Amino acid sequence: MFAKFGTVFTQFEFFPSRLSSDGVVIFSCFLADEKDSFRLFFAFFTFCHARSPDDVEPLIIIETLSLASPGYVTHDITLDICRFTRYKREHSISKNTAVLFPFLNADDELQNELAKIGGTLPISDDLSVLSEPLTFGQTKKYTIPNRFVVQPMEGFDSGPDGEPTELGFRRYERFATGGAGLIWFEATAVRAEARSNSQQFWLHKKSVDRFATLEEKTRSLAKKQFGHDIVTVLQLTHSGRYSKPARGQRLPVIAQHSGVLDSAHNIPNDYPLITDDELNRLQDDYVAAAKLAVKCGFDGVDIKSCHGYLLNELLGAHTREGKYGGSFENRTRFLRETIERIRNEVPTLFVTTRLNVYDAVKYPWGFCANREDYKQWDLTEAKMLAKMLYELGVPLLNVTIGNPYFNPHYNRPYAKTIRGATPYNEYPLLGVVRFANIVREMQKSLPQLPMFGAGTAWLRHLVPNVAAGIVQQGWAKLFGYGRGAFAYPDMPKDIMEKGSADTKKVCVACSGCTELMRTESPTGCIIRDRDYYRLPE
Ligand SMILES: Cc1cc2nc3c(=O)[nH]c(=O)nc-3n(C[C@H](O)[C@H](O)[C@H](O)COP(=O)(O)O)c2cc1C
Ligand code: SF4
Repeated sequence: MFAKFGTVFTQFEFFPSRLSSDGVVIFSCFLADEKDSFRLFFAFFTFCHARSPDDVEPLIIIETLSLASPGYVTHDITLDICRFTRYKREHSISKNTAVLFPFLNADDELQNELAKIGGTLPISDDLSVLSEPLTFGQTKKYTIPNRFVVQPMEGFDSGPDGEPTELGFRRYERFATGGAGLIWFEATAVRAEARSNSQQFWLHKKSVDRFATLEEKTRSLAKKQFGHDIVTVLQLTHSGRYSKPARGQRLPVIAQHSGVLDSAHNIPNDYPLITDDELNRLQDDYVAAAKLAVKCGFDGVDIKSCHGYLLNELLGAHTREGKYGGSFENRTRFLRETIERIRNEVPTLFVTTRLNVYDAVKYPWGFCANREDYKQWDLTEAKMLAKMLYELGVPLLNVTIGNPYFNPHYNRPYAKTIRGATPYNEYPLLGVVRFANIVREMQKSLPQLPMFGAGTAWLRHLVPNVAAGIVQQGWAKLFGYGRGAFAYPDMPKDIMEKGSADTKKVCVACSGCTELMRTESPTGCIIRDRDYYRLPE
């Protein structure tokens, strides 16, 4: 089911030959191997959903490659087609991009694959549960008009003061008119040095008016289009060891040295740790940002504690000394204190967090990995923390896992590794199953606290069925989706109004948007929104 493709092809050239009756373009192609000896293979590539040979979407999933050459068998492979928008062009295929992934056509094929890997996912043909409202809140009640949550998706397109620009307004307009009931606004730095890049959102006195306009426009557009009021949350962040406040200028802020992450990110052994005093001052910044967020009209703020950023690192800071490291009590102190302070000082705002419940980083450098085998999770502490947060008044929990810079296949299972990154070659379905089952375990441990996850985009056109299954079978109370919101923001609207999603519009998990981020370019969908977003040559 999962195997590396035997030969590394360094070049290939496509020749569209015909269009099949079901809208699939059949290609012939030349392939060249590493020795550059051109050989003619009779190959056919099937591209789903193309309308004509002249209208080939650069979908990366090539369903079938059949090579008329001894020693080769029919394979399903994923190739580097993202940079291929016009055929009859030569392209390089980097090593390891040719990996065998099945294309799952229908629910029963997904079930078969799940059976093969011994995994489970809930699947439902009845999508109506996704249109049901959800009321949550411990004191004040909030109603989300349906079960769709746009997960925070950074656009890398702010102005010089961290304020949203036209591209940012366009992104949230698309989300609002797409129908999701909860929009979780993207990572927004609480101070300039906390930014992961020079174009990350940054909320402060100079940018607050623009954020207020963005929130107001997003909410009113949703209301105008659907007659419903949405719930909005702003994600507040410090990028920690991934801080890069100016283009090309890394300024890591670390809570502990890591035997795993330091070498991966070139952090020297004598690099200083953030002090407890500095952390206390940082807490003031979170509170100040929360005060601005409420002025902007946001219903809630997320004290982001995930994906390897500073507050996530503190949760796993087993080797840190002092009041913010070592014991569970100490490692979770900063998050709990910050939430408590905001609850007290900004009582009209709800406070929540996007919480990494499993870093998949070796002990003692991560949160909730099994101490003997970091590839297994041990959610004991995550469950304890969730309960503590609930008791502090947190009304909703956004559950996530992994670190996109270090083990991206945990957080966002994908069909293709981005250029220059370590290929993991894990069957992405395993990643989808792992993430969903972890969310399920968390939700089961505390049913009174509504939770939800993400990480299903690789399932493509089967996403709605799994989303409905997740909600229907109580794996989570809501359905969160990230890349799908870039690719196909109207998915909730289509499901609610037409009862189904358009398979031609779904995210294909090609990692193009992540690659844009890594090249510090404005981020969006290079497949479905390519008039706006393209990979640099
Ligand atoms: C381009 C890009 C930007 C992202 N920005 C954020 C962010 O600002 N905050 C965050 O918590 N997660 C961020 N994520 C992670 C997504 O919210 C989501 O967890 C991930 O894409 C997996 O879910 P999916 O399969 O539905 O895409 C980002 C992911 C991508 C690909
Ligand atoms: S949203 Fe990202 S991963 Fe999905 S198709 Fe678009 S560029 Fe590829």
